[in-house]
Amino acid sequence: MELCAHRGLSGQAPENSLSAFILAAEAGLPWVELDVQLSADGVPVVIHDESVDRCSDGHGRVRELSLAQLQSLDGGSWFDPAYAGEAIPTLADVLALCLRYPLKVNVELKAYASEDLPALCEAVAQVIEGLALPADCLLFSSFDTQALTLMQQRLPQVPRGQLWQKIPADPLPTLANLQAWSAHCDYRHLDAQLAQQIKQAGYRLHCYTPNDPAWLNQATAWGVDMLISDHPERFTH
Ligand code: G3P
Ligand code: MG
Repeated sequence: MELCAHRGLSGQAPENSLSAFILAAEAGLPWVELDVQLSADGVPVVIHDESVDRCSDGHGRVRELSLAQLQSLDGGSWFDPAYAGEAIPTLADVLALCLRYPLKVNVELKAYASEDLPALCEAVAQVIEGLALPADCLLFSSFDTQALTLMQQRLPQVPRGQLWQKIPADPLPTLANLQAWSAHCDYRHLDAQLAQQIKQAGYRLHCYTPNDPAWLNQATAWGVDMLISDHPERFTH
């Protein structure tokens, strides 16, 4: 079973910060997950929430702030004073770092405003092409099937995973249309029947965000392929 650090090693450093991705790499984890959305001036930035309020000292919606405004914020003190001044990174910053280590990256496309979707997908594709990132070190995921369809058209060689909170009763047409690699779900909503359906159809099964290693036996029994955790190091002991 593969381990993926959710928003970087977010149990130990501010989520989605360069420090969190560096810690994941130094811990020897094979995968990190990040959340990407667009700044007001069209730059893909790595931050989870629709607004900057929770994870910085600023206020407002990410899509209404320019890159310069976003990068003037303190994205670290909210987590721990030791991370004061940590910047909200661009996707290019994070992917360049991952390429150097190397570290495989699950890029979760966040489209809080659906009209931003085409621009987000195009900007993400351009960053990946600009860095000449190999497709086998990337995975796109999204709760938004349309985002994955756009990436399928734009960068078909990069694998895709459909995100659900709970896998729906009939997931296979969506996965087939996407030529998906994986189905991703909240581990709390998985059961034996849903897991079996995904696995028997030949897809990988990825679960977020188990943090208690006691779940490992259940995950193994259900054939889960990847755990996306805030504390992946707990699953290695
Ligand atoms: O990609 C798995 C997980 O990150 C999905 O939920 O809200 O943490 O982005 P969220
Ligand atoms: Mg995410």
